[in-house]
This record gives sequence, structure tokens and C-alpha cells, in this order.
Amino acid sequence: MTLDQSEAQPSTTTTAPAVRVAGAGKIFSTREGEVVALTGVELEVAAGEFVSLIGPSGCGKSTLLRLIADLDQASSGTVELFGKHARRARLDQDYGIAFQQAGLLPWRTVADNIGLPLQLHGTGKAERAARVRELVELVGLTEFTDRYPDQLSGGMQQRVAIARALASQPKLLLMDEPFGALDEMTREYLQSELARIAAETGAAVVFVTHSIPEAVFLSDRVVVMSPRPGRITDVLPIGLGGPRDEALRESPEYFERVTAVREALHGAPVERANER
Ligand SMILES: Nc1ncnc2c1ncn2[C@@H]1O[C@H](COP(=O)(O)OP(=O)(O)OP(=O)(O)O)[C@@H](O)[C@H]1O
Ligand SMILES: [Mg+2]
Repeated sequence: MTLDQSEAQPSTTTTAPAVRVAGAGKIFSTREGEVVALTGVELEVAAGEFVSLIGPSGCGKSTLLRLIADLDQASSGTVELFGKHARRARLDQDYGIAFQQAGLLPWRTVADNIGLPLQLHGTGKAERAARVRELVELVGLTEFTDRYPDQLSGGMQQRVAIARALASQPKLLLMDEPFGALDEMTREYLQSELARIAAETGAAVVFVTHSIPEAVFLSDRVVVMSPRPGRITDVLPIGLGGPRDEALRESPEYFERVTAVREALHGAPVERANER
């Protein structure tokens, strides 16, 4: 794998972390009373770093991602992206976002779905077309540029969603279970693709998943969360290095990390992982 980042990397160089969440809490007021969705969250994601959030249903993973994306506001604490307030970062389109459902516009072709963020940003037609061509190639959909979403498989739709998230060359991708609805083989394939794309573009990624192997395969660090109230209970460095390929999935180091994350998730001691 070649890592020529010079082309794809955005021109801004900044030493500020991609994400900095400090003392963040989130309380939802409902008819039944207050729900403490998050409490005391401290999280820093370095530029170019891949961090996964994992934890049982209801522990606040999506809520945390929504705070980072400024789709919802923290009840306490602060959220900064590249040293800016989350609101500013949203207005500046500093990140791309992809969810469990691809969320494509059915009346737009693949090319027009991918180009949408650029269109909204006022990018000219010729530049947009050139960028879309690059992006469809990056996600391996060149032959499907003029198709409509309902003519694509679920995995292909998800690749369109990833391409769309990358359209404005963000330095940060926010992804909430983007492969959750896919079969295991497509899922593993797209994991490899995402790892390659993240490396090639130099983008940081915050990735929500329920899958321990997926988190280990992709991440530099795995953040383990627990519910009632939602909080971070563990942060595990993965540090597998090297290419994310099929050999990695069968390596002893990989299994070791999977075990460590599983134990952290279940609240069991992690001595064995610490011994190495
Ligand atoms: N808009 C809302 N109003 C009220 N409560 C909410 C709202 N959004 C989330 N919650 C509550 O906050 C908690 C965290 O929800 P969140 O969706 O972040 O969990 P999650 O970790 O993403 O779960 P899952 O793995 O099932 O997607 C839950 O108790 C949920 O019911
Ligand atoms: Mg969720």
C-alpha cells in the first residue's frame, strides 16, 4: 500500500487535536424525567488517528458522536474540533459523517449524491465533476457513477455514503455503525477499504461500533463505554501497525487485542493483556 498523502491531504496544517471533548455531560429531559446519557467524558483524538467507541446499547455512543458533530449540544463541558468550537467546525465542513443507513437521496445518481456536499458548498461544476470522479474511483464504483441508489447493493450504497462523507476532503470522519446492516463478508471488505482510505487521506476517524473485531482491526485506540450513566471506562491502545489486511485478522497480536477489548467491555480483569 502506498501512502501518498500529499495529494489528498487538506492544505491546512494544524497541531490541534482533531477532537477534544472535556468534561462533557449530556442530560435529556423526557416526560418520564431526566436521562443522564453522558457524564464526565474526556476524549482527545489526534489528527490522523483512528478511534473506535464501543459499549452496550444505550451507553451514549451515538450521543457522544452527535455532540462532536454539533448535531446536539452538551449539557456541560466543551467540544472542540481542530481547536475550534464544534459549531464553527460544522459550519466550516471540517468533518464528514456517515451513519448506519447510507441515507442517500433516491432521486439522485451515485455521482450526484457524492457531489452533494460540494454543491452545497458552492463548488463549481467542473471541479465538482473532477472530484466526484476521484471519489468513485477511491471507493471502487467507477462503473456505477450514473446508477441510482436502488440499483445498488447495501454495501455499494454504504460506499457511496463514505465517498460523500469524504467529498469536501475533511480531516475528520464521524461514523456511527456504518457497516452495521451489512453481511460479514461485505463488512470485512469495507473495513479494509476504510482503513486504506483513512490512511491515504490522513483523516482522523471516530467510529462507533458494536463489533469488537471490527474495532480492533480498524483502530489505533478503542474507547470502551458503559451505561447508566454513559461514561468512558477504558481506553485501549491497539498499536497493531502495518497494513490492515487479511493476514492481520489471523495474527496472534490481533486475537490478543480482541481478548483485551472483550475483557474491558465485560469489566473483567485484563492482566493477560497487560503482561505483554
Ligand atoms: N433525544 C433523546 N431524548 C431522550 N433520551 C435520549 C435521546 N437520545 C438518546 N437518549 C438516551 O440516551 C442514552 C444513550 O443513547 P445513545 O443513542 O447515545 O446510545 P448508544 O450507545 O448509541 O446505543 P446503541 O448502541 O443502541 O445505538 C439512552 O438511554 C437513550 O435512551
Ligand atoms: Mg447508537
